[in-house]
Amino acid sequence: MEPARTPPDTLLIIFGANGDLSRRKLLPALYNLDAEGLVPRNWRVIGTARSEVSDDDFRQVAHDAIREHERCDFDDEHFGEFSQRLTFTSTDFRPGDTQVLADAVARSSHEFDDDPQLLLYLSTPPSTFGPITAGIGEAGLAKNARVVYEKPFGSDPASFAALDEIVRGVLREDQTYRIDHFLGKEMVQNLLAFRFANGAFEAMWNRAHIDHVQIDVPEDLGVDNRVAFYDKTGAIRDMMVTHLFQVLSVVAMEPPVRLRSGPLTDEKFKVFDSMRQLSADDVVIGQYDGYRDLEGVADDSATDTFVAARVHIDNWRWDGVPFFLRTGKALAAKEQLVTLAFRRPPATMFSEVPESGLERDHLTFDLSGGGAGFSFLAKLPGPALRLGRANMRFTYGETGSRLIGPYERLVHDALLGDRTLFTRTDGIARTWELVEPILDMRDPHPYPQGSWGPDAAVDLLLPRRWHMPQDPDRFSLPEI
Ligand code: BG6
Repeated sequence: MEPARTPPDTLLIIFGANGDLSRRKLLPALYNLDAEGLVPRNWRVIGTARSEVSDDDFRQVAHDAIREHERCDFDDEHFGEFSQRLTFTSTDFRPGDTQVLADAVARSSHEFDDDPQLLLYLSTPPSTFGPITAGIGEAGLAKNARVVYEKPFGSDPASFAALDEIVRGVLREDQTYRIDHFLGKEMVQNLLAFRFANGAFEAMWNRAHIDHVQIDVPEDLGVDNRVAFYDKTGAIRDMMVTHLFQVLSVVAMEPPVRLRSGPLTDEKFKVFDSMRQLSADDVVIGQYDGYRDLEGVADDSATDTFVAARVHIDNWRWDGVPFFLRTGKALAAKEQLVTLAFRRPPATMFSEVPESGLERDHLTFDLSGGGAGFSFLAKLPGPALRLGRANMRFTYGETGSRLIGPYERLVHDALLGDRTLFTRTDGIARTWELVEPILDMRDPHPYPQGSWGPDAAVDLLLPRRWHMPQDPDRFSLPEI
């Protein structure tokens, strides 16, 4: 949120450094930050995991991952310099077995003029967060360190509470960085700019003008290469209680006094606090055909690969305005959309409303592409006063930095000690409480791969419908 500053010298320890997430997101983000000159003057990385990996192996892993996943042209010379900062320490880091890593940290610290700040990044499955945190405490690495946790933080209210207790026993809240990379997306931050930097939008951002809100994140890919993680997690935990709820809190919150960690997080918490606990009547879960055939998935797996939900926020601004959330795997398209649909005016003087007029005028934010669009009815050119649908679109085009994606932004913030875009323990506790009644839902509706999920998810919205700005005709309009 502030002009880019240079972080202090840092020793970064990545748990699960050769794993899927680190390869796809974290290592490329570090490379990009380095390319943009946003890294500390002196910094080193110790990658760690159970597997036997040498420094050279790890550099090769990083090389291949960055070539495959970074967003600019790969530069061998730059990578050569970058990779000299990477080392690897193989260890099964657990309470009672922490010395190997503690020694590696001590050795690496000698390569700095003064003691570096320690940033520990848990790029590991949620079930490991407790033991690794306890190990960090035992190894004496917690003092003044910051620890970044991937999501989900816990898997239900009870496991959250148990993990929270372990973490609180080792770290202060201001040392704890629970990451939700959707909060690092350019457009999520831009929602704040749209709402609070303009006279127009905030004035209509309430129940007097908004009929309903959609937060829609369909994904076209299945989970073939992530079964071990996904089958234990499912769409509610992987996406809804985390990314979708966090985005919802940014859409729905009251203006914070300042765009700083404390005031912003307070407002997001108030949204969670006003949300009604979800009930099975408000939720549709689904599972794509063929999911149970994947290797590692049981024949009777009840894992949800799709979820749609109707959420109510019982506060002054949103009373009576439903928020519809949807996400799922193996669907017809990949989109990340937030849509505010406006109330219809009583404009009965227009005799000919086009079919698309059944759709309300709406404002849509594209979280993946960074653009926004406003869709409305306008007069068709010609002698008669006939209506047609018109669109205004805003995109960044080439003006934004391609290199600063969510992970770059959030890792940079963690290096600087800026917690504005990270989640807080009370908010996470509340989100688990909100979904508790639906976590044990079984019998997901089957749906074909490449479809829009179960029909029941379309019914959940009636007489409204899921909105897709690019191609509204992909959907048959409901009878109303
Ligand atoms: C991750 C989820 O957190 O976010 C994935 O675990 C999901 O299941 C991904 O596909 C979506 O993020 P992105 O990178 O498309 O914004």
